[in-house]
Amino acid sequence: MLHPVILSGGSGSRLWPLSRQNLPKQFLALIGELSLFQETVRRAEALPGAQPPVTVCSEEHRFMVGEQLQAIGVGNGGILLEPVARNTAPAIALAALHLVAKDPQATMLVMPADHLIENEAAFRDAVAHAASLATEGWLVAFGIRPDYAETGYGYILRGQALSDDGFRIEKFVEKPELATAERYLAEGTYAWNSGMFLFQAQRYLDELSRHAPAILAAAREAYAQAQTDLDFVRVGKDAFAVGPSDSIDYAVMEKTDRAAVVPVSCGWSDIGSWSSLWAVAERDADGNRYEGDVISVDTRDSLVRASERRMIATIGVEDLVIVDTPDATLVARKDRVQDVKTIVDKLKAAG
Ligand code: GDD
Ligand code: MG
Repeated sequence: MLHPVILSGGSGSRLWPLSRQNLPKQFLALIGELSLFQETVRRAEALPGAQPPVTVCSEEHRFMVGEQLQAIGVGNGGILLEPVARNTAPAIALAALHLVAKDPQATMLVMPADHLIENEAAFRDAVAHAASLATEGWLVAFGIRPDYAETGYGYILRGQALSDDGFRIEKFVEKPELATAERYLAEGTYAWNSGMFLFQAQRYLDELSRHAPAILAAAREAYAQAQTDLDFVRVGKDAFAVGPSDSIDYAVMEKTDRAAVVPVSCGWSDIGSWSSLWAVAERDADGNRYEGDVISVDTRDSLVRASERRMIATIGVEDLVIVDTPDATLVARKDRVQDVKTIVDKLKAAG
C-alpha cells in the first residue's frame, strides 16, 4: 500500500521575514488559499490508492500541523514529532519504522511540504511508474529537467533502462559546486533531483543499515521509546538527538546501488527562496508580483509584498524583492536572495 510521508520539518529561513521559526514557510499560504503543506497533503490524498499521509515535523509545530490537516478535512496517518531536527535521513527513518510496524510491505512516497506541482496528472503517472519499480526493490527518485545551474539541488545521471520510463541511477551528486553544476547542465544528460522519493519502507531501512548505521540505530531507539498521544507520536528525545544529522541525499542516495529515477515533467518547483516564489507567481505585464497595498511607477521584475500596517511605493527599480512585516522589512536584489539565510544566521547568533 502506498503511504505518503510529508516532510515538514524545515525552517524555511530563506523566506525570512515572512517565514519564521515558529511559522515556517510550509505553513503559510504563499500562493493561493492553502498553505504549501496543505497543498502537499491534498496532492497526496488525490493519488489513487494512497493511505492517509504520515507527517514528520518538529514537536514545536504539532498544533499547526494538526489544525492545518483538520482544516482541509483529510485523514491522518499519524504525526511523528521530532524533538530536535536531524535532517531528512533520520526523519524518513522514523516514518519507515512507523510504517513497517503496521505493514511490513508498506511502500512510502516521501514528499517535501514546500513544493508546487502544476500538472498533477503527470505527477500521478510518474508515481505509478515509480511504485512498480519500488516493488522490485528500487529506491526511486524523480528527475526534473534542469534549466539553470542550481547548486542547491541534487543531480542525477541516468544509466541503464529498467522499464519504459525508469532508469537505474548511474550517479547521484548532491549540491555540486557551481562549476560542476554548470558542466552537468552543459552536458545535458543530468536531471535535477526533485526531493521526492518512493520506496518500500523496509528497503530504505536496509539501505540505511548498510550506508548509515548510526542514523538507523538512533532512529530505532528513539522510535522504540515513542509515546503516542492521539495522532501524535513523540519519539525518545535523547536517543534521537545523539544520532547524526544528515540528508537522505548524502546518507543514502549518493551511496546506494539500488537507486532508480523516473523522469517527470509536471511543472515542479521548490519554493525555496523569494526568487523562486517570484518565478512561479502570477505577474503583471512588467513582470511584477505585488501583494497588499503597493503603488509603483516604472518598476520591473520585482516582488513587493506589503504588510497590513502600511503601503509600499516604488519608483524606477527593477529585480528587487521587498517584503514588509510588522517587525522586519527585507529589501534585496533578486539575484542575492539566497543570502537571506545569512541574515537569519546573523539574527540567531545575535540571540
Ligand atoms: N521532518 C523533517 N525533519 N523534515 C525536514 C528536516 C528535518 O530535520 N529537514 C528538512 N526537512 C524537510 C523540509 O521541510 C523540506 O520539505 C524537505 O525536508 C527537504 O529539505 P530541504 O532542506 O528543503 O532540502 P533541499 O531543498 O536543500 O534539498 C533537497 O531537495 C532538493 C529539491 O528541492 C534534496 O533532496 C535535493 O537533492 C533536491 O534537489
Ligand atoms: Mg528544499
